[in-house]
Amino acid sequence: MDEGLMKTYARADEVFVDGHGAILTDSTGREWIDFLAGIAVSALGHGHQELAANLRDQVGKIVHLSNLFRHPFTEQVATRLCALADMGAAFFTNSGTEAIECALKLARKAMHKRGTPQRTSFVALEGAFHGRSLGALSLTYSEKYRKPFQPLQNVTWVPPEDTAALAKVLRDQQPAALALEPIQGEGGIRELSPGFLRAARELSTETGTLLLHDEIQSGCGRTGRFLAAQHHGVTPDIVCLAKPLAAGLPMGACLTTAALADTFEKGEHGSTFAGGPLVCRAALVFLDEVDRGLLDNVLMRGQELRSGLDDLARRFPIVREVRGRGLMYGLRLWHSAPEVQKALYQAGVITNCTAGDVIRIVPPFVIQSEQIQTGLQRLATTLQRFPQTQTLPQDQP
Ligand SMILES: Cc1ncc(COP(=O)(O)O)c(C=O)c1O
Repeated sequence: MDEGLMKTYARADEVFVDGHGAILTDSTGREWIDFLAGIAVSALGHGHQELAANLRDQVGKIVHLSNLFRHPFTEQVATRLCALADMGAAFFTNSGTEAIECALKLARKAMHKRGTPQRTSFVALEGAFHGRSLGALSLTYSEKYRKPFQPLQNVTWVPPEDTAALAKVLRDQQPAALALEPIQGEGGIRELSPGFLRAARELSTETGTLLLHDEIQSGCGRTGRFLAAQHHGVTPDIVCLAKPLAAGLPMGACLTTAALADTFEKGEHGSTFAGGPLVCRAALVFLDEVDRGLLDNVLMRGQELRSGLDDLARRFPIVREVRGRGLMYGLRLWHSAPEVQKALYQAGVITNCTAGDVIRIVPPFVIQSEQIQTGLQRLATTLQRFPQTQTLPQDQP
């Protein structure tokens, strides 16, 4: 187990060798329902034939060029993403963390350009997760993740939904940027209210703070709109995307408005690999599926999943709350979520836990109705086996 690897992950014992859609097959031939999609990534599921054909074709042509050369796919993906997100320009990355890193540097550079280079700090929300590099980690709330690596960047956290606290911090501190996830992922699938999202937009504009939406988990259609903030008509200055963007290949993007598109000068930011022909070909397959109505499936299957989860919440007192929208849900429990998640896994449904007491359900966008129903049935059978007491697990507040 884990031979030759740093011990940063507790990996499951099963070895998955095949898949189709939202079904994964392990090395013994057992089939599993994938309610996790590789942590909110595999939008087109597994074994997607059009993706496979496009990648095979591209591997036979050009896999890598570097950003020293133009490639039509890179420009096509940038243009289509900007249209979908109502933004003006893109910088491609290989991960979500790198997209955040780009956004933080962009905000700092914008402050220099504006003649306010002293505006170097950042504001983020309690419960936030923005990544693990030193910059992105600085904005990540969990002390467990940050403590071993301090000192980090200067960040102030504000409780979600506390508009008065946010107003005070932005006015007093005059930071470079405010970062927020419209739906906190690692924070337990916690959706920010439309009112708070709009207040964050207004206060950022008022104080000259750049508003950064981290839609790495909630974006690219996971909630049924291309961006989660589009449900509420809020447009940030910078938006970061990643996870589903290239249907499982590593790709992220930092998008910004036309007004900020020329913030970086040549050579001020870069990446050897990012935005190459292979990942962009995959992103084009994903975006084609979006154009053909993939998000309708997200909305329809999402409604089925939501009503099934609401039904479980009514039947099993152990369920404390159902949170989320589209195909992004958290089942908050009055019980240790890892214990329930393990039992569910043994029952053949792959999920994971966030924030200690929440089971995260983020299936592929292509999931089918019967797979949702089978997953919900197994969830019901699993929940039934636990005591239905409404007391908090010991390690929860
Ligand atoms: C909201 C959010 N931001 C940033 C990240 C970091 O992305 P990556 O793991 O691709 O670097 C994640 C990953 O889970 C995330 O959910």
